[in-house]
Amino acid sequence: MDAYGRDFAAIYNTAWAFWGPRMWPFLSAQVARRCPRARTWLDLCCGTGSLLKLACENGYEAVGLDRSPHQLRHARQNAPQARLIRADIRSFALHRKFDVITCLFDSLNYVTKLGEIEGVFRNVRRHLAGRGLFAFDVNTPEGHRQNWRGAWIRRGKDCTLIGESACDERTHLARLRLTGFVKQGRLYRRFQEEHVQRSCSREEMDRLLARAGFAFVRYNGSALSRRIARASRLLYVCWRA
Ligand SMILES: C[S@@+](CC[C@H](N)C(=O)[O-])C[C@H]1O[C@@H](n2cnc3c(N)ncnc32)[C@H](O)[C@@H]1O
Repeated sequence: MDAYGRDFAAIYNTAWAFWGPRMWPFLSAQVARRCPRARTWLDLCCGTGSLLKLACENGYEAVGLDRSPHQLRHARQNAPQARLIRADIRSFALHRKFDVITCLFDSLNYVTKLGEIEGVFRNVRRHLAGRGLFAFDVNTPEGHRQNWRGAWIRRGKDCTLIGESACDERTHLARLRLTGFVKQGRLYRRFQEEHVQRSCSREEMDRLLARAGFAFVRYNGSALSRRIARASRLLYVCWRA
């Protein structure tokens, strides 16, 4: 039941690997503006490496970190020049600093305790160079309410995926149960995963970032604009306060 197992990682690599390319123009412009001398890039929760690939192609020394060995296997193929590390963002220790640190596509929502989110921020700050930039995007409570409710089905040539999700307004936890059927000869192999995310109110997130020593600007994470009222996704661009 662990999230991002072998079968889902293979599907993710084809169906959801668009986020890195979508975010790259905005992120690279932010980096060029705020830390033009940046050379090193750490992508936390790098998944199948769609952003790492672009970081490498654009001359950064890129390191990717993820806890799923299956996601990392695809990242190795997609971004062969990047260094990849299997670790948990709640406890990683790389003993060096990076100019840019990213954590994209609601990966941080997978850390479901407020104290642990603050711990991740403190750890990121320890790994961030003095004038470095930290950027992450998260589902907001509005986003979970809109998009993590009800069921959907996605049919591919060799696989059908069913998602059933629900969110709890009180705990801010959202759950997605995935059931997949992967074609194997004339039959199908069935797999299941559960994804649990937590969203933070804007005030909660601001407080956690400030306590960890970050100043930041918020953007609408879908439109990539400054219009953030009722945004289903927020993108934070942060630096040392
Ligand atoms: C939605 S995917 C995003 C992947 C990638 N950032 C992208 O843009 O395609 C979330 C990723 O976070 C990873 N992840 C979730 N919780 C994690 C944790 N505590 N430590 C390290 N990786 C984690 C998962 O294995 C998965 O690859």
